[in-house]
Amino acid sequence: MVKTIEMVDGVVMMLDQSILPHEVNYIECRDYLKVAEGIKKLWIRGAPAIGIAASMGIALGAREIKSGTFDSFMKELDTVFRTLLATRPTAVNIHWAVERMKRLLNDNRQRSVAELKQLLFDEAERVLQEDIEINKTIGRYGNQFIKDGDTIITHCNAGSLATGGYGTATGPIRVAFEEGKKIQVIADETRPVLQGARLTAWELMQDNIPVTLISDNTAGALMQRGEIDLAIVGTDRTAANGDVANKIGTYSLAVLCKEHGIPFYVAAPTSSIDFSMATGAEIPIEERGPEEVTNIFGCTIAPKGVRVRNIAFDVTPAKYITAIITEKGAFRPETLHMIDKADAKLEQLRLKP
Ligand code: MRU
Repeated sequence: MVKTIEMVDGVVMMLDQSILPHEVNYIECRDYLKVAEGIKKLWIRGAPAIGIAASMGIALGAREIKSGTFDSFMKELDTVFRTLLATRPTAVNIHWAVERMKRLLNDNRQRSVAELKQLLFDEAERVLQEDIEINKTIGRYGNQFIKDGDTIITHCNAGSLATGGYGTATGPIRVAFEEGKKIQVIADETRPVLQGARLTAWELMQDNIPVTLISDNTAGALMQRGEIDLAIVGTDRTAANGDVANKIGTYSLAVLCKEHGIPFYVAAPTSSIDFSMATGAEIPIEERGPEEVTNIFGCTIAPKGVRVRNIAFDVTPAKYITAIITEKGAFRPETLHMIDKADAKLEQLRLKP
């Protein structure tokens, strides 16, 4: 499985996903500004992956700070936090990473600044390794809903490339495949940035998982023909009521699934659930530049000067979602808000196939 991101001798090596599948190239990020640039320019993308990149960026940013006291160190680090938070608004994992690193520093405020810097590097590595394990656990819970012979549709890339490895939506797919289930994946191409065509199709082919690419507008026809058994997608931020923000087009896919009686699953680490947001209406939605819609790989496909809307994510209301599969188990959207409570009776809340 191809590596999305790693730290080698204090340098962040980021796979440039903007040029996949044509070229496999790693960009060396030696400071946090380069990491921030990578997140903004989609060299790295996918909510968990940018959470990991942000953790590593914080460690790189802290390394440059000269201040010797805890308070002045934290004050300077605030610029690093703000820069990373300003890169992309929808994925909650950047906020999650910043909060995790702040908590670590506050819990260790009695230590020297040199020790704190080392702690940040160790923590960033832990964030990466934990993410891979979390995805494998999501995979085991999600695999329960996949039967031998199933065809699974997915949208965007919530695969190995969108995470530290293994993937969220591809977690259950990978476990099912490894268990020998004869499954097939349908990958929506996912305009405008084509994460489905360029990334999901590519990474599944790398691992010999059967995948068929479709243009986004083909999903309904396949469902009508009875050729889809279930859908699994990822999320950039899910609200406490189970409303799911994910790549534009996810909502349309969920509505189509409802119409055809096809289960619609969302696979995500709990770090992508924003329990502070009551509903999806509160989730900030990124809008991006027109060139992503008017151009494909440098080739212009629309009249010069045409007005464009490029909304990067949509919100799928909880009523369209069968279950949200996390590392704690699979839950109906309406019980999601309960899993964060210290006394949560997870076993009773878990959805069984
Ligand atoms: O704009 P992107 O490519 O960062 O959007 C990514 C998605 O929408 C993914 O489906 C989502 O982050 C889940 S990734 C595990």
